[in-house]
Amino acid sequence: MAAVVLIGSQWGDEGKGKITDFLAEKADMVVRYQGGNNAGHTVVANGEEFKLHLIPSGILYQDKTCVIGNGVVIDPKVLLEELSYLEERKIKTGKLLISSNAQVIMPYHLVLDGLEEEARGDKKIGTTKRGIGPAYMDKASRVGIRIIDLLDKEEFAEKLGRNLEEKNNLIVKIYGKEALKFEDIFDTYLGYAEQLRPMVADSSLAIDECIQAGEKVLFEGAQGTLLDIDHGTYPYVTSSSPIAGGACVGAGIGPTRINRVVGVIKAYTTRVGEGPFPTELLDGTGEEMRANGHEFGTTTGRPRRCGWLDAVIARYAARISGISDFAVTKLDVLTGLKTLKICVGYRVDGEIIYEFPQSQKIFKLCQPIYEELPGWQEDLTHVQHFEELPQAAQNYIRRIEELTGVPATLVAVGPGREQTIVRGTIF
Ligand code: GDP
Ligand code: IMO
Ligand code: MG
Repeated sequence: MAAVVLIGSQWGDEGKGKITDFLAEKADMVVRYQGGNNAGHTVVANGEEFKLHLIPSGILYQDKTCVIGNGVVIDPKVLLEELSYLEERKIKTGKLLISSNAQVIMPYHLVLDGLEEEARGDKKIGTTKRGIGPAYMDKASRVGIRIIDLLDKEEFAEKLGRNLEEKNNLIVKIYGKEALKFEDIFDTYLGYAEQLRPMVADSSLAIDECIQAGEKVLFEGAQGTLLDIDHGTYPYVTSSSPIAGGACVGAGIGPTRINRVVGVIKAYTTRVGEGPFPTELLDGTGEEMRANGHEFGTTTGRPRRCGWLDAVIARYAARISGISDFAVTKLDVLTGLKTLKICVGYRVDGEIIYEFPQSQKIFKLCQPIYEELPGWQEDLTHVQHFEELPQAAQNYIRRIEELTGVPATLVAVGPGREQTIVRGTIF
């Protein structure tokens, strides 16, 4: 039995898609368990680049079963477009299962995501405007429409009618915009439902059967620890649980089934959207990281904010998710920097703290305390073995391990599948 959960250890975009694709080779099933098409996972397989938003990165292997679990919010239009995109690129998608209990992103969720952001003014979150927050709001309010509801015409008509009345009230009376029309949504979504029907399944059961049969299951998290609704930099977070515990809820499996947790962590830090970021670099070094690491959002194209690695955050992620192994990505991007900095604690109000603070008011005031390490000049993108890395790069990785107590079992030195240094087995 082997079930591995892979999560983001920072603010997302750590390279989860790449590491999922790398580990998926040995897996039988790959499962997404939360988030929606706010995610953007870029995978480079056999020299070809793929951008995935909803479908697990395991889809690029033809023999893996891929699952979109109950914890995901699905925009059916986006899902169908992604399926066409993959088919056009000669990727077979016949082994995709969709949970009947996953929530559906409706057109009013997209409208409200935009209107709510606008209304927040300078307190805006910087959402991806994909309707994620409003869809999870409806789930928690117990009025959400699930995939299974879409497949039942009467049920769908009733739920859509009730929702639309309430949402149109908001859209028209509070925001002064035009009401959405029932018929337009109803007919379109029934059309989507018929296309999705063959893929809809009891995904929790399918995953359990796979685990019971001794097969290998990989759970692919979206977003990252600090975007977690409970444990992240609230309110500058997403509306789901990207941490490892989220896999149990969002896939319908028990915690005793999970053997390992891989925390994907960039060798530096990036963040998209608003919110505090103590190690952010607003100078030339930050710009260099953005340029060398191509740090622009996969989903929205926004430039990602860049900064030094924060070991306080790495230790926090390790604690919250019980990370057993780190996959350090983008080490190659640091080539050429004379000195590297790692944040080991924060100075706040004349005090020094070493743990991630509970209060966001305090986090905002945190000044990083840095440790400096020498950089390296060599190109790392062809390195296959840890010992072949320049000594300074080895030391950098070893220092991350010391500061966090977690082994860096995988080290990525480029976007390609083969640009991955393996220092131990995950599956
Ligand atoms: P995700 O959302 O966590 O899957 O990450 P993204 O795909 O949004 O962003 C990571 C980007 O870095 C992608 O374009 C990857 O192809 C790329 N990438 C992943 N690992 C590495 C690496 O080790 N080196 C370099 N140079 N690029 C990488
Ligand atoms: P992947 O899976 C980086 C951020 C948004 C915003 C906040 C809330 O590619 O790592 P939302 O639309 O979810 O309500 O936006 O979360 N965000 C991400 N940042 N990577 C992601 O996904 C993200 N998904 C959401 O920028 O700050
Ligand atoms: Mg991404």
